[in-house]
This record gives sequence, structure tokens and C-alpha cells, in this order.
Amino acid sequence: MLSWEEETAAPATRPPQARPQLQAVPTGTSGSVFQADVALNPGILARPEKTGDTHGRVNAVDKRIINGKTDVNQLVPFKYKWAWDKYLAGCANHWMPQEINMQRDIELWKNPNGLTDDERRLVKRNLGFFVTADSLAANNIVLGTYRHITAPECRQYLLRQAFEEAIHTHAYQYIVESLGLDESEIFNAYNEVTSIRDKDQFLIPFIETLTNPEFQTGTTETDQTLLKSLIVFACLMEGLFFYVGFTQILALGRQNKMMGAAEQYQYILRDESMHCNFGIDLINTIKLENPHLWTPVFKEEIKTLFLQAVELEYRYAEDTMPRGVLGLNASMFKGYLRFIANRRAQQIGLDAMFPQEENPFPWMSEMIDLKKERNFFETRVIEYQTGGALNWE
Ligand SMILES: [Fe+2]
Ligand SMILES: [Fe+2]
Repeated sequence: MLSWEEETAAPATRPPQARPQLQAVPTGTSGSVFQADVALNPGILARPEKTGDTHGRVNAVDKRIINGKTDVNQLVPFKYKWAWDKYLAGCANHWMPQEINMQRDIELWKNPNGLTDDERRLVKRNLGFFVTADSLAANNIVLGTYRHITAPECRQYLLRQAFEEAIHTHAYQYIVESLGLDESEIFNAYNEVTSIRDKDQFLIPFIETLTNPEFQTGTTETDQTLLKSLIVFACLMEGLFFYVGFTQILALGRQNKMMGAAEQYQYILRDESMHCNFGIDLINTIKLENPHLWTPVFKEEIKTLFLQAVELEYRYAEDTMPRGVLGLNASMFKGYLRFIANRRAQQIGLDAMFPQEENPFPWMSEMIDLKKERNFFETRVIEYQTGGALNWE
């Protein structure tokens, strides 16, 4: 298999591969992401001058994460092996929500003495954010990020990630349905509950930037706009806005409550940590390839966004836990959010914003670092392998 170091050489004996013909898109097609893609990446339609001409072959060294000119249809030769490895790891972690038994959760929820009012509020507010958050994430990838990324290895991961976001929305919907919650209340929370709405309103402009068919990269200004959206998405949405919610449900699980939901969240957390890490690798590689984008003014702008996000997530923590519940309270989350914000900032090369902040929930780190062979809640065999790994003997 070709890798970053290996440049393509034309094999003397192998005949050229026929490439599939791309269909022309009729003019006036609405939402023609394909057209935008072609405009953005002339390389998508690059063809050798004549059959047998090897002049136009892709060299890994020419690939770029953004504004690349190489053919996005050719996965190899690899340049961004880290993206391909994450794609493989994502596939190895495949899971489906209905594999998890929700029976004990259903019994607990239906038992009038099963949970306190504060715990029920927490669960409903929690799902109120998540049932739409992962649809926002999926739409951001499919309609936004994907077409601006010109490295096929990264596109391959984004395709996997998009499916995982669909699985997460499925998981949240499955919990809502299992517990018999009022669907209209939960699915409308992002319009009707201020603390949730504010988080989404913070994110939506950055998603709209990328999904706007008029938006194209290629100038310092537009490249910075893309980079900013990627940072907001990876570091602040997947890397920060999910963490109050994850901690709450996993804390319930640690007290033997809502174990099925907690297990679903455990799988989601594992996927999301990889999404966040992929996003950070993507951001750092764009920085490496385009150092002129990382200006002092830009860094200040990012810092301001981090501070806003910490404040919004803290307000969400207060709203979901007005009195403290499960041994957790909003002020503990203030410390936790600052701790996470420091980590995200440092991961993309910024200084920590809240020095000396410590992690008040060290058990969350264990959850995040959980390897496949360990299942914290021990409700299911966690090792899940797809057909490709089956032993046929
Ligand atoms: Fe997700
Ligand atoms: Fe995600």
C-alpha cells in the first residue's frame, strides 16, 4: 500500500484504469454541492491528457487538507494516514443503540419512587439538548465541512463520522421512545428551553457559514472563516458542549440508575472523543500547511469564543441542576468546563485560559480513556466486531 513517503510511479505493464464518468449536473439544480465542489476543487475532474498518460497522477506530497488541487476521488496514495487510521478505528467501534437493553431504565422511569424530580428534570433537559445536537453535527459535516476538505482520507473519516452522528441521534431517540417521554417536549427543547437554545444559537452561524453554497475557501479571510468554524465545531461543540450532559448521565449510571441510557452515552462518548481528536488533528494540520492563518488577531478571536462557550455551557449546567443532584452541582461544572477548555486550547496550540484548574471529575477521564475490552457498566459484551473480523474456521 502506498504511503506518504512513496510517490506514485507508473507501472510499465499495468493498463490504465478506466475511471467512472462523472455526470454533468444540470444548471439550476438546487443545492448543487457537487457544482460547488467542482468549482472549489478543479482537481475533482482532472484527467490525463490522453489514455495511458501518467502525467496527471496523484502524488501524496501534493495533497492538501484545504484548497488542494489533487483528485479527491483517489484515496491513495495516503498522505494523512492519521485520518485513515481514525476511520478504521471508528469502524472497529461500530455499535447500534438497539443492542443495549433498556428494560431496567423503563422500570425505573415508570416507578414513581424510582427517581427524584431533580433527576427526571436532568434527564429530560439532557435529552432536550442531545436529540437535536447530533443532527446539527451531521448536517454540519455533510452539507458544510465535507466539501471544503480536499484530502480524501479526511473525507473518508467524515463519512464515517456522519454515520456515527446518525447513530447518536438514533440512540437519543431510542431512549426517548423507550422511556415514553413526551417527544414534542424533548425535540422542541432546542427552541423552547433558553439554556439549550442559547448553545445552539451560538453554533448555528458557524454551521451556516460552511453550508452556505456561496461560501468558498481560497483567500486568507475565507480560510480563516473555515478554520474558525472547524475549531468551534471540534473544540467547543463536540469538545465542550457535550460534556455536562455526558457527565450527568454517566453519573446516574455510576449510581446504578438509568444504566441502559448510561451505556448508550458511554459509546457515544467514545465516538465523540474520536470526533474531537480528529477535528483537532485536522485543525493542526491546516495550521501547519497554512501558518499565515494563525495570526494574533485570529487567536484572540478564538479565545473570546472559548470564553463564551464556557459561559453558555455553565448556564446550561445551572439550568439542568438548579439544586444540585447526584452529588453534582453547577459550580463543580464551572471547574470542569474550565479544565476542559484549557485542554482544548492547548491541543490547538493556544495557552490555557484558566491556569491551575484541576479536574473535579477524574472518573470522567477513565470513561473517556476506556478501552474496548472494558465495559464500565458490564451490561453487555463491549467488544463488537463486524463481519470483516470474523474467524471462518
Ligand atoms: Fe454525535
Ligand atoms: Fe460528533
